[in-house]
Amino acid sequence: MSAHHPTVVSEAPWKADFESHLEKIGGPSAEFYLATVTPEGAPRVRTCIHRGFWAQLPENKHNELPKNPAIYQSDCPVFTNDARMEKTYHIFATGKGKGDREQSKSGTGGGGPVEAVYWVKDTMTQWRVRGKAWLVAADDVEGGTDEAQNSGTVTVKAQVGRYMRPVGDHATKNSEWSWKNEVENHFENLSPGMRGTFRNPPPGHPLSEGKGEGEELGQKVGHLADDELARKNFRVVIITPEEVERVDLSDPEKSKRWIYTLSQESGGQGGGDESKPSQEWDVTETWP
Ligand SMILES: Cc1cc2nc3c(=O)[nH]c(=O)nc-3n(C[C@H](O)[C@H](O)[C@H](O)COP(=O)(O)O)c2cc1C
Repeated sequence: MSAHHPTVVSEAPWKADFESHLEKIGGPSAEFYLATVTPEGAPRVRTCIHRGFWAQLPENKHNELPKNPAIYQSDCPVFTNDARMEKTYHIFATGKGKGDREQSKSGTGGGGPVEAVYWVKDTMTQWRVRGKAWLVAADDVEGGTDEAQNSGTVTVKAQVGRYMRPVGDHATKNSEWSWKNEVENHFENLSPGMRGTFRNPPPGHPLSEGKGEGEELGQKVGHLADDELARKNFRVVIITPEEVERVDLSDPEKSKRWIYTLSQESGGQGGGDESKPSQEWDVTETWP
């Protein structure tokens, strides 16, 4: 991994419980709800599928690609998305760079605010993860031409990098870790039919507008590296959490709620230095 970033040394205090609760609702196929904000300030919520945590690719029977070395962990939930969908535009338009629709379709970037909600009935716990979302495209995230290396790529690597904890053989295998490889592996972790949806006609557009070349429902796709159209549309979305709320309703007479907040020194609460690692979390127990 080429980008330099500050080093996070410990896991967020909520991560282990969150991860183990997610295992009870499907682990890397758990359903959750994602809220974004439109450029006009209206809320939009939709169902998505959790695909693990960034840099910790889940095992998957569909995936035969070479993997990145396991030298990073993070507290960042990941899902996949089509760049042509509205949430992509919301995430670009409400980020610091205020990206327009064309930019949102063109590659890596984003940074708009999101909230993801996960309800785990087995543990009677609701988790709400608030932070920023970043979209990563295989074609411009590393290497390639100078034009392809846009400022979105640099920002995403820096911002997500703050959350990437070196582990294991990091010192010797650092140069082998590739953002592009991680994106290609997330694509490969989907079923061939699900991969094919990235060649669908444009989501949300009227049927009367027709479809582009090669676009069709019900296609099956192999590797991302071999499919230009799917590559144009496929994004891995990484949520960089800043506030996590946990509500435990397992005892109706003694419900509990905790709010974990990334400390100001760690770039949280809007006031801190975003060049710092996402290290320190404050926790407050509140009335439920
Ligand atoms: C069970 C289920 C899982 C879904 N998973 C995802 C997902 O992981 N990513 C995604 O972008 N859309 C997913 N969708 C589709 C979204 O709910 C939504 O319809 C689509 O993303 C378009 O929304 P948007 O235009 O607001 O972006 C899923 C829908 C369902 C019902």
